[in-house]
Order: sequence, then structure tokens, then C-alpha cells
Amino acid sequence: MNNKIFTNKRIGILGKGGSGKSTVTVLLANALRKNGYTVCVVDADSTNFGLHKVLGLANEPKSLIDYFGGDMFSGGPINCPINDPLAISNATIDLDTISEEYYSYNGNGIFYIELGKMVNKGPGVGCDGPISKIARDLIIQREDSQIVTLIDVKAGLEDSARGVLTKMDWIVTVVDPTIASFEIAKDLNNIILQIKAGDLPPMTHIKSAEHIEEIKRMYTKSRIKGSFVMLSKIKDRTTERFVVNILREKNIKTVGTIYEDSSIALSWLKGTSLKDVGMNEDMVIALEKMEQEATQYKRKILEDSLRLQI
Ligand SMILES: Nc1ncnc2c1ncn2[C@@H]1O[C@H](COP(=O)(O)OP(=O)(O)OP(=O)(O)O)[C@@H](O)[C@H]1O
Ligand SMILES: [Mg+2]
Repeated sequence: MNNKIFTNKRIGILGKGGSGKSTVTVLLANALRKNGYTVCVVDADSTNFGLHKVLGLANEPKSLIDYFGGDMFSGGPINCPINDPLAISNATIDLDTISEEYYSYNGNGIFYIELGKMVNKGPGVGCDGPISKIARDLIIQREDSQIVTLIDVKAGLEDSARGVLTKMDWIVTVVDPTIASFEIAKDLNNIILQIKAGDLPPMTHIKSAEHIEEIKRMYTKSRIKGSFVMLSKIKDRTTERFVVNILREKNIKTVGTIYEDSSIALSWLKGTSLKDVGMNEDMVIALEKMEQEATQYKRKILEDSLRLQI
């Protein structure tokens, strides 16, 4: 059985709006597949469009918000995790048994699932918290292969406030050459450190003792291990050096760079696969770095726990 470092792991892709999260998601899915993983890409962004097309999939599956009981975004079967943090009870999806209408498959090791979109829902559409809750809790399984789940998370930090980070194993923070991106990367790193140090989110708005217990449990049992920072939309080596230095001053290391490439922008415009763009090679190298860092992290945790036992 495959026991690569990211199998059965949940990796969230986060960052500023428009920084290149969905592009990095697709390139990373391709790189993981090339390295022998089976991949499930989860589109958890309720406002964006076209991810399945650049993954090379002709068909868009039915949204999981329908699977979980309906497309109401507030007050439906699944609520916003800010008001109701309780876990979704049936959040494990087995790709062998779920109806095929809820996923697309590229025929070669990459599955695609969409959580739900806020477009065409009429004027009553409200909070997309239920989408965040599914992104937080969803576990993808497949009997004959261990799967790595890549979750393309909505832009910004709102989903972090909704507890989504606690149930990710790793995140990839996508940083384009803007000050806002640098700040978000720093903040995400700090949030992860705070979660690992045992800090809890504000809970003064929560009245239910059961909900408070759930939040405490979720944060103290968090799966999050760390963040890999991936540069995106970088024009040239000079810009790359400049950005790497700024990030280094903030104690942020990068694992790779996706350069600005007009064929990427064209693929998004035309809705065609990113499979053949040159940047796939750069992502394979970045993935190797990610695997090395994750392996070192795992080794350190094992050594620390052995030391505690002695
Ligand atoms: N490396 C790149 N080179 C050139 N253009 C790019 C690159 N990466 C992304 N783009 C362009 O920027 C747009 C936004 O990229 P992408 O959708 O990957 O970002 P995002 O962070 O997922 O955005 P959103 O926050 O809207 O979900 C794409 O439509 C594409 O045109
Ligand atoms: Mg996107």
C-alpha cells in the first residue's frame, strides 16, 4: 500500500483573492498525480468559477451542499460554523459508493468535488458559512487507494476564522507580489502557531455549553502541522529575489515559485486544461521540497514523543 507522506492528508490552499490559489491547486494536483498520489480536488470557493475546466474536466458535478440536504446558505441543514460549530455527522464521503453525479473524474487519478456556489440563488442568498463547514469537516475516502485531498479555499482569512484550519493537515499559502499577500502569509503562519500553542478563538458570542466544548475540542485536537508558502504570478528573477527577501524578514520561507505565464491566463479565459503549461515542472520541484519538509516534521514529532517516553 502507498504510504507517501501526503496520503490521507488534507491540504488547504489559502491566500489573498486573485493571488493564484486555484492555479496552484491545479498545478499541485497534477504534480501530486505525477508523483504517484491519487488526488481529490475540492472546490470550496462559493464565488469562483471554472476550476473543473482548467483541471481538464468537461463536466461540473452536482454540489455537495445538495448532497448534505439542500442549497440554503443560512438556516438550512448545515449552518454557519460561527453560530453552530458542531461537526457534520456524516461528513465522510466514500468515492466508491457516493452517487457519481457528485464528483467528476479525469480517468487518471484526479477526482473533483464542488461544495456549492452562491450564484443564481436569488436575493435571499446569505452567508456561505455552510460551505466553510463542509470544507472544514469533509473527509474523502476510496477503498483501493489512499487519497490526498486538496481544498481550494475561499480568498482571505474568513474561513480561518470559521475554524477551517483546525482540520487541515497542511496549508499552502499562495503569495503574489503584493503587500496584502505578504501580510496574509504572515498572519496565516501566526494563526497556525497560535493554534498549535493551544490558543482558542473568541467565544463570547456563543451561549451553548455544548458549542463551547466543541470549539475547545476542535482547537485542542487540531490536525494542522504547518504552512508551505508558494510564490505566484512572479514576473522575473529580480521580483522573485525581492519578494523572497521581504518574506525572509518576516521569518517566512518559500517552497517554490510559479512565474507569470500568459498561457496560464489564457487557459483560464478559454476554460482549457493547465496540463501542458510549463509551470507544471516547477510545481513538481516545489512538491519535492514540501515532501521533504513534511517528512522532517514527522520525524521530529516522532523523536519528541520518543524522548518524552524515555
Ligand atoms: N502564474 C500565472 N501567470 C499568469 N496569470 C496567472 C497566473 N496565475 C493566475 N493567473 C491569472 O490570475 C487569475 C486569478 O488566478 P487564480 O484564479 O488562480 O487565483 P485565485 O487566488 O484562485 O483567485 P480567487 O481569489 O478569485 O479564487 C487567473 O484567472 C489567471 O488569469
Ligand atoms: Mg480561486
